[in-house]
Amino acid sequence: MTDQTYLTSWQVSEKDFPRGGAPEEQLRFLVRYAILAPSTHNSQPWRFRLAGDTLELFADRGRSLPVVDPDNRGLLISCGAALFNLRTAMYYFGLAAEARPFPEPGRPDLLARIRLDAAQLRPGEWGELLRAIPLRVTNRGRFEATEVPVTLDAAMRAAAHGEGAWLTTFKTARAKQAVGRLVAEGDRIQFENAEFRRELAQWLHSARDKDGLPGYSKGIDEKLDFVTPVTAYLVRTFDFGNGVAARDRELATGSPLLACLDTARDDPLSWLNAGQALQRVLLVATARGFHASFLNQPIEVAHLRPRLASLAERKAFPQLLLRIGRGGPAKHTPRRPLEEIFIEDARAAEESW
Ligand SMILES: Cc1cc2nc3c(=O)[nH]c(=O)nc-3n(C[C@H](O)[C@H](O)[C@H](O)COP(=O)(O)O)c2cc1C
Repeated sequence: MTDQTYLTSWQVSEKDFPRGGAPEEQLRFLVRYAILAPSTHNSQPWRFRLAGDTLELFADRGRSLPVVDPDNRGLLISCGAALFNLRTAMYYFGLAAEARPFPEPGRPDLLARIRLDAAQLRPGEWGELLRAIPLRVTNRGRFEATEVPVTLDAAMRAAAHGEGAWLTTFKTARAKQAVGRLVAEGDRIQFENAEFRRELAQWLHSARDKDGLPGYSKGIDEKLDFVTPVTAYLVRTFDFGNGVAARDRELATGSPLLACLDTARDDPLSWLNAGQALQRVLLVATARGFHASFLNQPIEVAHLRPRLASLAERKAFPQLLLRIGRGGPAKHTPRRPLEEIFIEDARAAEESW
């Protein structure tokens, strides 16, 4: 049986918000929403520091993925997704606050500083997004043929735009086939690389762990959790690239909608913004009962990235490739407990690399 301890993070409830509490207590509560963000290999590469009415978000480079993500692009996108959850909760609970990205140029790991303000905001549209945070899950199964409504397509594009990114959607069979071919090519290239396989295997964790990818998130029966070390050994040792490529191509072409999120530039601020845009898109889709999962291979393999940009017909930098549709049930992945992600001494943490 799976130990459910590290799944309790998902039970966050707006009723528990400490409305009359001190700023520090309120900010600590908001972080419970932040950590439900998606992250590369469920690495959860974020840390937080609380000081009175200020909350700081840091990149945790000790959780980087040097092979698949050598520039920490995915790491900053993950932190951006956490930041969007934080902002959503902040706005919903009526906390006017400033969330400044990269507030100190000489401190690249300090990704954002959030400072509370006494003014009160009205929750407005944020309730729908807030309630979607604990419902969102990466669903790697097949999606139904049900089309994504044009209103949702437009709402997701507006969501990306609102966070400084752009979402191109692919709906026709021809466009999806072209994208699917790139995904398959990316899979084959990645799995040929023993270093890539070794890194992926390192993050295949038991469902009892507090991070990493449990087998069930990849479609393996939960009763087989005890064979996780064997699965990791197989992934590390054998090149399953052709099989993975065939499956991903089928998933891509069989999904009602594919979507490429891109940014005008390709730097840390753009990655942080891409993460915020990603999460906003995912929450909009979740709120309407749709699922998403990632097919980032043509972005992670550097020479395929311009080809994806040209399929999107944009002179920009693709940051994420998603498939969107209605899937079957999918279970949440674990999250690290809050005590582990709060730090006292930011300078020491930044200097530890
Ligand atoms: C920047 C980024 C890249 C990701 N890339 C992939 C990917 O290529 N393939 C995949 O299956 N999942 C990918 N994911 C999804 C994560 O594996 C997933 O978010 C994580 O395991 C936590 O699970 P959850 O999203 O269900 O909470 C990515 C997530 C992020 C934020």
